[in-house]
Amino acid sequence: MAGGSPTRRPFAVGLNLHHDTSASVITPGAVFAAEEERWSQVKHHIGPLSGFAFPANALSWCLSAAGIDPADVDEVWVPRMSSVAEGEPGALEARMVAQHLDARVHLVSHHAAHAHSSGLWQRSPSMVLCVDGGGSYRPPDFTDRERVSGFTLDEGMLEVVHEGRASAAGDGIDRGRPSANSLGHFYRNLAIRCITPGDEPEGSMMALAAFGGPSPLVDDLRDRVRLSSAGHVEIAAQLGNFDRDGAITLGGRSWSPATAREVPLSRRADLAWAAQHVFEQMVVHVARHLRSLAAASDRLTFVGGCALNAQAAGRLATQSGFDEVFVPPAPHDGGTAIGAAVLGWHSVTEQPLPGGVDAPNWGPAPHAPGQRAPDGWPFASLDDASRARVVARLLGAGSVVALVEGAMEFGPRALGHRSILARPDSRAVSDRVNAIKRRAPYRPLAPAVVDSRWPSWFEGAPDRFMNRTTVVRTERRSRLRGVVHVDGSARAQSVTEDVGALYRVLVEFERITGLPIVLNTSLNAKGKPIVRTAEQALDVVRSIGLDAAVIEDQLFLPPDWGIRTLSLLLTDGAAGDDGGQVDRLMASWFGRTDFALSSCARSAIAIAALAAAPDWPRLRATLGAGAVLAASGLADASGIAGVLAHEIPEDLRPLGAIALDKDALAALGSAGDRRHGPGGSHDGHDQRLLASRAAVLEREMLGAEAYIEDRLPPFGVPRPRRLAEAAARLREHARGLAAAVD
Ligand SMILES: [Fe+2]
Repeated sequence: MAGGSPTRRPFAVGLNLHHDTSASVITPGAVFAAEEERWSQVKHHIGPLSGFAFPANALSWCLSAAGIDPADVDEVWVPRMSSVAEGEPGALEARMVAQHLDARVHLVSHHAAHAHSSGLWQRSPSMVLCVDGGGSYRPPDFTDRERVSGFTLDEGMLEVVHEGRASAAGDGIDRGRPSANSLGHFYRNLAIRCITPGDEPEGSMMALAAFGGPSPLVDDLRDRVRLSSAGHVEIAAQLGNFDRDGAITLGGRSWSPATAREVPLSRRADLAWAAQHVFEQMVVHVARHLRSLAAASDRLTFVGGCALNAQAAGRLATQSGFDEVFVPPAPHDGGTAIGAAVLGWHSVTEQPLPGGVDAPNWGPAPHAPGQRAPDGWPFASLDDASRARVVARLLGAGSVVALVEGAMEFGPRALGHRSILARPDSRAVSDRVNAIKRRAPYRPLAPAVVDSRWPSWFEGAPDRFMNRTTVVRTERRSRLRGVVHVDGSARAQSVTEDVGALYRVLVEFERITGLPIVLNTSLNAKGKPIVRTAEQALDVVRSIGLDAAVIEDQLFLPPDWGIRTLSLLLTDGAAGDDGGQVDRLMASWFGRTDFALSSCARSAIAIAALAAAPDWPRLRATLGAGAVLAASGLADASGIAGVLAHEIPEDLRPLGAIALDKDALAALGSAGDRRHGPGGSHDGHDQRLLASRAAVLEREMLGAEAYIEDRLPPFGVPRPRRLAEAAARLREHARGLAAAVD
């Protein structure tokens, strides 16, 4: 019985003490798991002692959530990563555990833990391919490490069928010098010489590869790699061992991390293409060998840090010879805590692993029950339906929205519980998301799609965990310009109803736009882990400049963007007919009136609410009285524009973006300032001011068609005629405004 007296329910604890430090607890009904980085805020959480660290916070949470007293933990399972340099193999791990728990330590193979990390999803036999930089040191002398491993996995039973081997000195491609033959090191060595400092090396190189092409670099790399019999690969020692700073000569050029920035991007893209191409050839070579050994299984599971290479996983799906290729949600080292706990579970209980484990949201909720969000942000409570509707509307209008719901996911992907969402069909929007996250502009962003719609948009089998690239159907690519990579691929996530809020947003977004797809990327600041708590989420939303956040059932609007978002949202059914309605709306929707909205925002709220009323005369009357436009500045124009834009047919709804884009706001502002001077007039009854603002608005509307042609995606309608009609309506409304105040 793991951890506790025989009268307690069984449980198993797995700990990864190396980088991507993590903890996992499996109980009869549930899995609890988290990575220490989400507490430390140090991405990949790596300790100072040869990279070792203890997941104190993650373990504490897992045990607490599982209802287990730490004193009841008397066994833990730990992948062994220490070398003889740290003393007797495994002694370091035992000492680290002893500082926190009075528990027996079961040391397990790192690659076996990788393999078992897929066990929660394995209901049929599978071959498993594990590829990473390096795993456990291997007996008997503990000088050689796991690098490439093949297993059969069947009902929890793991059997080694392939072990990559290091080259003996003189046997490898670099004679006289042994090579670790590490594919992980091969890829990293090239990535840190290809990608400029500050950008994540491996993921960036994989993205950049699509912009490169065949060159003599490929031949140079192939000359340093040998695909040998029985699925073995041999790599020249300079590439097969990790080298953090030396120079490597390829294609007649010396490549080193210190000089990567000096090499033109196109040249680096060719190196990326060559590295990716040769890397994929090696991975496919091993996988085909496993296929030749797989008598009973058509399924390949790909794990290890190299399984995060989504392009390679996609290549395996088409070229390995297996009918099905599966990558679990945490194939990286963090996932070895899951695999270790699975091993422990098999060791201590006759019970099957917990069923119904479809999504890896095994971590904490964003805040404790009943806890409210930090003060200072306008917010409103939303039920499920209105949350989906509000997020979908915001996305439709080009807003970039944080969605935080329920338990935190385990692993490097945000699958809807700690996500940033945006519409998928606009390069302008995806460029903005990349800029917000300070990612290299060539890095693609991923789509999330309603599962049942997958076949209409993507080739191949659906992937719930966003770990494998697939081909976007050619005829669909023009509608997914924000998420299709330059090579026509996408790392798509299929979303089923059980995922929760993201699924409902997708359904609503499809109803509005015809697109069952949104852009989905992780909610984190550059260089930081994905957020854990509501407070962290709001901090990131504020620091990177998102337009709105939905956290559980609450909508948060950064004060400086309240005008545009409130204008959108209030047209969703609220109506008012006098200036006092503004305060009542705010009180009823936000539950409070003490937050500081500018007079501009109050005006926009009133305009939006009034516009939702069925009759324009009532709006005109109110405007004529100057009840709400009184104290406004340029935001009035944008508010009006937003409202008017939403009067047009729904399929042209993104016209609203003309009032919502920062550039358009700036243009309106400068036009207004030139017309009225820096201070403008703040006389609530200044009809000349209103008339002139209406004129500014009219001029902006006249430019709408050109703006849309340049910035917004197609909507499958006869655009010239519809746009002309829309522009005419907008002009008419603008003139009406002017007339109302004359
Ligand atoms: Fe690993």
